Amino acid sequence: MCGIVAYVGGRQAYPVILKGLKRLEYRGYDSSGVALLDEELAVYKKKGKVAALEDSLVGKALQSRIGIGHTRWATHGEPSDRNAHPHLSASGKLAMIHNGIIENYAQLKQELLKKGYVFHSDTDTEVLLNFIDDIRENNHCSVEEAVRIALKRVVGAYVIVILDRDHPDTLIAARKGSPLVIGIGKGEHFLASDASPIIEYTKEVVYINDYELAIIRPDELILKNLGNETITPYVQKLDLELAAIEKGGFDHFMIKEIFEQPHTIFDCLRGRLELEQGRIRMKGVEEHMDRLMKADRIIIVACGTSWHAGLVAEYLFEELCRIPVEVEYASEFRYRNPVIRPGDVIIAISQSGETADTLVAIEKAKEQGALIFGVLNVVGSSIARASHAGAYTHAGPEIGVASTKAFTAQLAVLTMMAIKLGMEKGSIDAVRARHLLSELAEIPEKVRQLLENTEDIKRIALKYSKARDFLYLGRGYNFPVALEGALKLKEISYIHAEGYPAAEMKHGPIALVDDQLPVVFIATRDAYHEKIISNIQEIKARRGKVIAVVSEGDMVIPQMADDVIFVPSADEVVAPLLSVIPMQLLAYHIGVELGLDVDKPRNLAKSVTVE
Ligand code: F6R
Repeated sequence: MCGIVAYVGGRQAYPVILKGLKRLEYRGYDSSGVALLDEELAVYKKKGKVAALEDSLVGKALQSRIGIGHTRWATHGEPSDRNAHPHLSASGKLAMIHNGIIENYAQLKQELLKKGYVFHSDTDTEVLLNFIDDIRENNHCSVEEAVRIALKRVVGAYVIVILDRDHPDTLIAARKGSPLVIGIGKGEHFLASDASPIIEYTKEVVYINDYELAIIRPDELILKNLGNETITPYVQKLDLELAAIEKGGFDHFMIKEIFEQPHTIFDCLRGRLELEQGRIRMKGVEEHMDRLMKADRIIIVACGTSWHAGLVAEYLFEELCRIPVEVEYASEFRYRNPVIRPGDVIIAISQSGETADTLVAIEKAKEQGALIFGVLNVVGSSIARASHAGAYTHAGPEIGVASTKAFTAQLAVLTMMAIKLGMEKGSIDAVRARHLLSELAEIPEKVRQLLENTEDIKRIALKYSKARDFLYLGRGYNFPVALEGALKLKEISYIHAEGYPAAEMKHGPIALVDDQLPVVFIATRDAYHEKIISNIQEIKARRGKVIAVVSEGDMVIPQMADDVIFVPSADEVVAPLLSVIPMQLLAYHIGVELGLDVDKPRNLAKSVTVE
């Protein structure tokens, strides 16, 4: 949520920052801006996407070897030029970018207003910046010292980077609860919210931890804690290639990422699923096997699409491991004073590993003695570092704002984990375990087959793209897929959609059905097949339009449905890995048909680092 980039070194800062902002645009695109320091400290900012800022700066001589840039997802104050970052302090000496929320900003603002400060934006950022600058002036101290004093009073989450007019070779950065990576070059440093703006310049990076402050010059990186003690930076090597963050010939990141799924699922299974030996190797699970086997209860915390993966996992763990599971929205769980017992295992699912609600939820559970297991995509992310153990999903960078390949990789990890635990506990027998392992191993190839012919999905997308509402229905393992299908459509096409358990529909949503309403049934062959056929009949009897996702070879449902999408047959335990793909494609093609920016849907951001 909000992307920040900064540079100090021998290059021209503006091109480096601009390119970085484009890479980070998935984190927010309400406005963007840069501050550059040559003879003067100059700030340029613009409402809208980074391209609007770039256009506004064409022809300007933007000389500077140091600079900061920001792409915003609005929290305090509407998207506008004046609320865009960087902000300038009242003294004109400091410019600052900020990612996060300062919760006690109203109180700090009151104090500053009493001192005569005038604010030019509605942001909490401008308040924090002036609070820092006020401390600097009154205490006659350095910016670094002022930041340290200020942050002791600040409640909330932040990454800040400050450019000081009087120190044209120094950036000051600090973090709590929002991510910050520093790339180390030769005589230069790159700062960013994630590694994507850094990767083409250097692979050596330092991840800044909470309550750490960095003083960055071309040849120097000093890390300190808020108590002013120096910390040795832990330099890590980035395991990321430039090609992974480019579109590679596709029109959008979203469709590229959908088509990557045969590989991403394969990568996720590789080295873990050993079909011949009939076993699964997962280091994070093995190291905590005793605790996991004895778990009284698994509590899954996540948000959005990751929460849907958690719902699938509820079916998996209950069926295969006979462990009770609760699936919680992290944002509710963290505030609910939940009962957590030492025998509980918390599974946190997150693509970004930075979602603020999920992070705080696991920290609370950790305090109460639960084991925290992360199912995460981004290596070294905040949730990864806060977990006791975990398994990475290895889906590679997901840049399209709507999650696709990360979801299927989460399902792959959770399915392996459930099969492994089930085998270990003896709650599934060897024959069933072998069958499930081979079903899982076949998924990458089946996804590839499914993606070979997407013409029917495109045709259906075209046919229904003008619909006002959609209903998505599924049962069992396919119920979370219905929720995910509805979420994808809402995000990408702005069409209202609801996901429901198919049988629950008659308790209310059936009132929506008329001859204009497309109803998507996720009806692959499973234990509830006969039941869902009855549900389809109920919709048809009310003249609703049925779009059915069915297993290849199904002869019954295609007779009733208005439109049919076939997916390869699979055991119901692994079926969501296949049935979700038409959901992603349907949303994508409807969004494209409507002329929308599918990679950057309005109001959204990829990494939700505010609560
Ligand atoms: C939907 C989507 C969001 C995320 C949610 C959690 O397409 O991407 O709903 O799933 O914001 O994000 P992570 O998984 O990064 O914690």
